[in-house]
Amino acid sequence: MYRLILILCSFVCFLSASTFIKSNDSQSHAHPKLLIKKSKSMIAKTGVVSKITTHVLQEMKLKGEKISMLTGYDFSMARLLDKAGIDVILVGDSASNVMAGFSSTLPITLDHMIYHASSVVRAVHRAFVVVDMPFGTYQGNWKEALSSAIRIMKESGADAVKLEGGVEIIESVERILSAGIPVMGHLGLTPQSIHKFGTYVVRATEEREARKLVEDSRLLEKAGCFAIVLEKIPARLGEEVARNSKIPIIGIGAGKGVDGQVLVLHDMLGITMEFSPRFLRRYMNLSEDIVAAVQNYIVDVKTLDFPNAREQY
Ligand code: KIV
Repeated sequence: MYRLILILCSFVCFLSASTFIKSNDSQSHAHPKLLIKKSKSMIAKTGVVSKITTHVLQEMKLKGEKISMLTGYDFSMARLLDKAGIDVILVGDSASNVMAGFSSTLPITLDHMIYHASSVVRAVHRAFVVVDMPFGTYQGNWKEALSSAIRIMKESGADAVKLEGGVEIIESVERILSAGIPVMGHLGLTPQSIHKFGTYVVRATEEREARKLVEDSRLLEKAGCFAIVLEKIPARLGEEVARNSKIPIIGIGAGKGVDGQVLVLHDMLGITMEFSPRFLRRYMNLSEDIVAAVQNYIVDVKTLDFPNAREQY
């Protein structure tokens, strides 16, 4: 009897100890600042890495699974985005602003875009990589558009290109598609036309512009685009376009009724602080962390704290 009580006691102690270890263990794995929210699809994705294709994006639209997209311009960041499970990386011409420091997207060249895109492609195993065709490489005539798109695909190894505009560029879109290159459209606030708009305010608030946007989206879908980005337009218009189209509609400032969302990486990480539109959610305040880390390094160098005995040969 005495031995039976002893065995029971040890069993209870073992159970409570393992529960304690487990709960402590899960705490120690939690990120100190960011709680990682796991969606069903993220959990499913932890197995074999299968590459996202236009077909997968189309299936996501049909299943009602939202598409996550972020911009990426370099190898190291793209590797992290891919590891995190992002669906689409856009090598945006916003590289002109956030990587090169220009005040608009107009100055970036085809060579620059190919450089950024090939760095991203080298980092990625799963995400679908789309590259912005820069200003001046597709608006003039379809021949130039086609040869620019072919250069992007050949020299970077990306999966698709993105062009801004509707009816005005439809011939270029059709020729690129006929060469077998997937095309993503971009309507609403199209930053390459900033000099025409004169301002970055919300687009298509008036009926005429809203109707043109709806017609342009139909035209791009009919031509064979695999997806369309809608930028900075009223949420009800974004929802209307997404509801009436068979291809994925990705929004940036287009509300939650669309099929996916895209943000500029440097904005959502809080690296760029001067840009604060209503649609932007900042997930980090990296600019403060980076400045603090660099200031600590400067102090350590100046005070001879760095390197210490263990950090030298
Ligand atoms: O270049 C870019 O970052 C973009 C997004 C704003 C969609 O086109």
